[in-house]
Amino acid sequence: MSIIGNNMQETEFNKQLESKAQLVNDTLSQILADQVSVDSSLAEAIKYVLESGGKRIRSVLVLWCCELVSGEINHKAEIAAAAIEMVHAYSLVHDDLPSMDDDDMRRGKPTCHKAFDEATAILTGDALLTMAFGILADEVTKPAIAVELISQLAAAAGASGMIAGQMADLKAENGKGSEELLEYIHTNKTAKLFGCAAAMGAICGVASREQFSSLCEYGLKIGLGFQVADDILDVCGTSEQLGKTAGKDEKSDKCTYPAVVGLEKSRQLAKQLADEAEAALEPFGTKADTLRQLAKMLLKRTR
Ligand code: IPE
Ligand code: IPE
Ligand code: MG
Ligand code: MG
Ligand code: MG
Repeated sequence: MSIIGNNMQETEFNKQLESKAQLVNDTLSQILADQVSVDSSLAEAIKYVLESGGKRIRSVLVLWCCELVSGEINHKAEIAAAAIEMVHAYSLVHDDLPSMDDDDMRRGKPTCHKAFDEATAILTGDALLTMAFGILADEVTKPAIAVELISQLAAAAGASGMIAGQMADLKAENGKGSEELLEYIHTNKTAKLFGCAAAMGAICGVASREQFSSLCEYGLKIGLGFQVADDILDVCGTSEQLGKTAGKDEKSDKCTYPAVVGLEKSRQLAKQLADEAEAALEPFGTKADTLRQLAKMLLKRTR
């Protein structure tokens, strides 16, 4: 499941990404298997959404940040990774709904509301969001750490985070757009969840205050860059390659970086954000090379 090219360094990076993504997938499958008393249609839709692939970037970021500060991946980090992936998956299910972006394809398959129906998709999103907080409360045995993880995730995903961004994204359709508005939308709808992934990994690894703030900064920067790249790919990619309908942003008159500042400046900004992300890792020295590689890879991604 490589996200980019094939020189030696990239092949090694892809191998590492794949093995961590597999760990996330195994944790998610185990959590699903443990869910009892779930309506069978709902269970089927949840499984459809959670097991439909996805690059698992946010969840792998949790694992890598924990590993960076503590030297290993612990159970807390595996749970935090699964929780963030559930919130991300829910956000996509709702983002694709007819009343939001109205998309038919996601990860190369029919969107949840197309494969099932709209009500099931709404409820599947609700269930995934709730389950994310449930597993943190149930599976992270140290109460202080569980509460800290829950607090971070609530802040990033809630009304002053992703939801604020999604609201602003919808309100900005058919509008004039500005760089200031774009930064607000993209920071909230996407970057904060990346910042949260890094923060959760740091918390699970019991990071120092300095390590924590460096990783949060790194997460926010790659997250903003990730959404800039998503906007660019919507213009330059094909539906087949992206697994979702290309060219959709222009059709919906979305406020995106290519629409407001053009493709060239969007690419420059993505590069600048990757550089700033790498700069935030300085205190870690070469131990953070995998995260440096991730920042570079996200620039080059083709899906
Ligand atoms: C898509 O995220 C939504 C954005 C915030 C751009 P991803 O590109 O990470 O989606 P999956 O999980 O790999 O499908
Ligand atoms: C998605 O942004 C952001 C969230 C889901 C929070 P987009 O609407 O650009 O994502 P895609 O392009 O549909 O994946
Ligand atoms: Mg959207
Ligand atoms: Mg969308
Ligand atoms: Mg998009």
